[in-house]
Amino acid sequence: MKFHHFKNNDAMPLLGLGTWKSGPGEVYQAVRTAIELGYRHFDCAFVYDNEAEIGEALAESIAAGKVKREDLWITSKLWNNSHPCELVLPALKQTLSDLQLDYLDLYLIHWPISLRKDVIYPNQASEYIPLGEIPLTETWAALEECYDLGLVRHLGVSNFSVKKLGEILSKSRLQPEVNQIEMHPFLQQPKMMEFCRENYIHLTAYSPLGSKDRAESMKGKNEPSLLEHPTILQIAARNQCSPAQVLIKWAMERGTSVIPKSVNPRRMKENLESIQVNISAKDMQEIAALDQHFRYLDGTFWTRGGSPYTLENIWDGEA
Ligand code: A2P
Repeated sequence: MKFHHFKNNDAMPLLGLGTWKSGPGEVYQAVRTAIELGYRHFDCAFVYDNEAEIGEALAESIAAGKVKREDLWITSKLWNNSHPCELVLPALKQTLSDLQLDYLDLYLIHWPISLRKDVIYPNQASEYIPLGEIPLTETWAALEECYDLGLVRHLGVSNFSVKKLGEILSKSRLQPEVNQIEMHPFLQQPKMMEFCRENYIHLTAYSPLGSKDRAESMKGKNEPSLLEHPTILQIAARNQCSPAQVLIKWAMERGTSVIPKSVNPRRMKENLESIQVNISAKDMQEIAALDQHFRYLDGTFWTRGGSPYTLENIWDGEA
């Protein structure tokens, strides 16, 4: 396994198991199997509504001697309805309790979007808290307190633009160490990569396979398919591996971590074995030519029903 080494020498496995969309009744077994297969990095979030089931799988794997807590890397994320300072610690404690852990390796602000306390997914304007009413730097300061309490070892953000990262960097005591964003050959984000390299921020690529199991309401018309793109298929054939393995190895070759989701033992194994796949410099060049600034998760779902959020103020005009 390849790792990203943080300043304090903690090592995050570059390949983790995504758990968004891993449903009740399937995620327990997926995590148990993943640990048996050798996965040590699990990407979780309160809003995935499955942390309690993941927690059972982690606890039972540890109790059965399959893995030690210190050899696991567990990420979770603060949901949009817990941005006010006083809600951050309770939200983290809920996640820790569900995951049956006494600390997280990494805790992220899930989106730069704020919602009213009892809202999980908003339906109307009144359920949003307008941009700027709770500055992201205030939420960040509450995360720093969680770090001081020893409840999280690293702090980061998700879905943040370079501009929003810059605001946190300029006004905070602790730097964000990770930005988790959508990244794949259709959305390569070279400017974000450069900014993060310069500022020692590690990038995690989500939706590396195109998240085709998203709800239909989250899909656009005529979305391009990563797993069926002719260039990806050719590179897979050339290297005697699967298209998914090409996409996963591509992400790791760029130094990013990557969290493909699967609940299927065969595909989980296949994805883990991406580590051994060879991708040549020529393959990387061919994939570089596929960038089309295309987001599968373009944030449109945050702009409906009189929302104060727009695609412009979410992404700040960045590709
Ligand atoms: P499944 O969970 O049944 O394996 P993403 O990580 O981009 O969100 O993509 C997740 C989707 O990709 C899920 O539908 C998942 O299905 C599927 N998937 C995961 N691994 C592979 C693979 N190796 N080949 C094809 N599809 C895969």
